[in-house]
Formats: sequence, structure tokens, C-alpha cells
Amino acid sequence: MLKEVKDSIYFDYYKENLFYIEEVIEKLTERIHEIDERREARGKRKLCDNVRYRIKSPESMKEKLERRGFATDAASAMKNVYDAAGIRIMCPYMDDVYIMARELSRCSDIRVLEIKDYIRNPKENGYRSYHMIVETPVLYNGETRHVVAEVQIRTIVMNSWAVAEHQLKYKKDVTDEESVALLKRCADEMLKIDYSMMKIRNMMEKTSN
Ligand code: GTP
Ligand code: MG
Repeated sequence: MLKEVKDSIYFDYYKENLFYIEEVIEKLTERIHEIDERREARGKRKLCDNVRYRIKSPESMKEKLERRGFATDAASAMKNVYDAAGIRIMCPYMDDVYIMARELSRCSDIRVLEIKDYIRNPKENGYRSYHMIVETPVLYNGETRHVVAEVQIRTIVMNSWAVAEHQLKYKKDVTDEESVALLKRCADEMLKIDYSMMKIRNMMEKTSN
């Protein structure tokens, strides 16, 4: 059982939907690990440094539904919002992000509904990450339901920026021009680091062959 599922506020809000959320998280996490296991068996590097999941808190779910003009109950959440179940994959290198996305989309029980590539098209504030909205079948009592989840794939470097920026935003909206510009500059410098890391890896792989 996932940690949120044990928490009564999640039970009280999501009710029977928690089962489906838990199943989609477990299924996706399993597929992600299988991808790396298959790679390791072929002597290849792992794509994931770390895989995390979260179930959207009832508070944040209600806020999002309200903001979008939907009813705030759990049935409406399952229908109208795609990130009740969220998975985040951190990769050492930038090209790993795209390999992982491709491998996931090739899984027979995963259907990709939407892609937002904030690496090729970063947000104005400098946010970079590859987002996929996916759907997977979950069987319960002889009935199949298609459950949606959000998968975010990013490098460790991109993640460290996003975590810090999220923390800053959580405390207070970052609006003053200097901070906004600095954050953006950090994000762009971090992209250069990601490119350099790939370059180093390619150089080392060449010399070790
Ligand atoms: P919400 O932002 O969740 O309302 O959904 P959306 O449909 O606009 O999707 P989007 O792909 O823009 O963002 C989904 C998720 O990506 C968010 O819940 C965050 O986890 C992450 N994210 C998006 N933008 C930012 C950002 O500027 N900073 C950080 N730290 N995370 C972001
Ligand atoms: Mg958003």
C-alpha cells in the first residue's frame, strides 16, 4: 500500500478511486523498472537515477478543479484532471529522458494521451521537464477501467532547479524582476551543464571501448 493510501484525508476524498490511483502508480513504476532491468541485462547504463510518485493531495486537487471551473468531488477529479497519480523520473543525462519516454510509449499496456516537452520548449521561467499524460488499463471485479497518470521525466540537474523553484514559489510568489531573471539564468546555465555532462559521457564511452 502506498503511503498516502494509509492517510485518512486521502481515503475520505478519493474513496474507491484510491484503488485505481494506486494500481496505475504501481503498474507504471513496474514498467519503468523493467525498462532499466532489460537495459542492465544487456550491459547498458540505467536510465533512472530515481523514481518517485505522489498522489495529488485533496487540497491541491480541489484547488485545481475550482480554478478550472469543475465540480470538486473525486469523480470529477478522475474525469477532469490528469495528475491525481503522478510519477517523476530523474535521469542522469538529457538523452536518457527521451529514451525513457520512447520505451514507455512502447509498452503494450501504456497509451500516451498527451506530451508536453518543456525541454525543447521551456517555460518562460526556465522550467524544463518532459511531461507525458498516459493511460493504462486496471482490472477490478472483472471490469477494466482506463486510468490516467502524469509522468514527468527530467534530468537530476533539471530536477534540482524545479525543486528549489517550487520551494521558493510555495513560500512566496517570485515576482521581483531580479529574482525572476536570476532563476531563469540558473535554469539556462544548468542546461549547459546537462550538455557538458552528455559530452563527457560520450568522450569517456568512446575511450573505454
Ligand atoms: P498544473 O500546473 O498542475 O495545473 O497542470 P498543467 O496542465 O498546467 O500542466 P503542466 O504540464 O504545465 O504542469 C504540471 C506539473 O508540472 C505541475 O504540477 C508541476 O509539478 C510541474 N511544473 C509545471 N510548471 C512548473 C514550474 O514552473 N516550476 C516547477 N517547479 N514545476 C512546474
Ligand atoms: Mg501548470
